Amino acid sequence: MNYILHDLHGISPDRLPRLAEIHMGDRGLLARLGYPFVLRYFEIAYKDPRVIGVYAQENESGELLGYGIASPEPESLTSQLKNDRRWFIKEIVKLFFTRPHVFIQLVISSITIKGQMNNESDAIECVYFSVDAKYRGQKLGRTLQRALMDESRKAGYKKMFASIETWNQASLIATQSNGFVIAKTFREGIYHRYRMECKL
Ligand SMILES: CC(C)(COP(=O)(O)OP(=O)(O)OC[C@H]1O[C@@H](n2cnc3c(N)ncnc32)[C@H](O)[C@@H]1OP(=O)(O)O)[C@@H](O)C(=O)NCCC(=O)NCCS
Repeated sequence: MNYILHDLHGISPDRLPRLAEIHMGDRGLLARLGYPFVLRYFEIAYKDPRVIGVYAQENESGELLGYGIASPEPESLTSQLKNDRRWFIKEIVKLFFTRPHVFIQLVISSITIKGQMNNESDAIECVYFSVDAKYRGQKLGRTLQRALMDESRKAGYKKMFASIETWNQASLIATQSNGFVIAKTFREGIYHRYRMECKL
């Protein structure tokens, strides 16, 4: 697997759907909200100058293999999903009637997450990192997260946080191998998470 890491802000916007597809392999809440939310989230992250983002691209085929996103204020990314009010209301109503359990989890998460998030001005959150299922287990996940750490350090951040579901061994191993330690565990509706932190 020969690949190069690139800055997310330099990606051609027509490749964002592919990153959104890779994200659909995640079992977290954003993926459970559905593809339209995921794609919109990537469009927001791509444009948000405070986001530090990387993606991996195979040298020969040009195929996208995975990505990582970090933000000093992850809630601002999710709240921008509401900017297009008509779109947001339509999608939320659809969610409420088709997958009410996900809707309830969304409400619980929006309430719970506020108390868990970083409020240290020199810290940044590793919000997501994902690798296409075909390319997992080859240390790309930890390389993407390491790139987020390096870029965040260069941008002046001193600490990185991450939340990882307790069942997610691959993410836990990759994150711990990058030097993160478990600060606490917490519950967010159906999700049991480790709150991880690392000095940059
Ligand atoms: C988490 C994720 C990014 C890791 O990517 P990756 O490229 O496979 O990661 P790495 O190869 O760097 O490390 C994974 C480690 O977990 C191990 N692992 C993978 N699946 C495992 C499992 N089910 N149980 C135990 N260990 C597992 C691998 O063997 C590897 O450890 P090793 O290097 O000591 O052998 C990838 O699994 C993924 O995209 N998952 C879906 C999205 C997700 O959960 N993202 C993280 C939360 S935002």
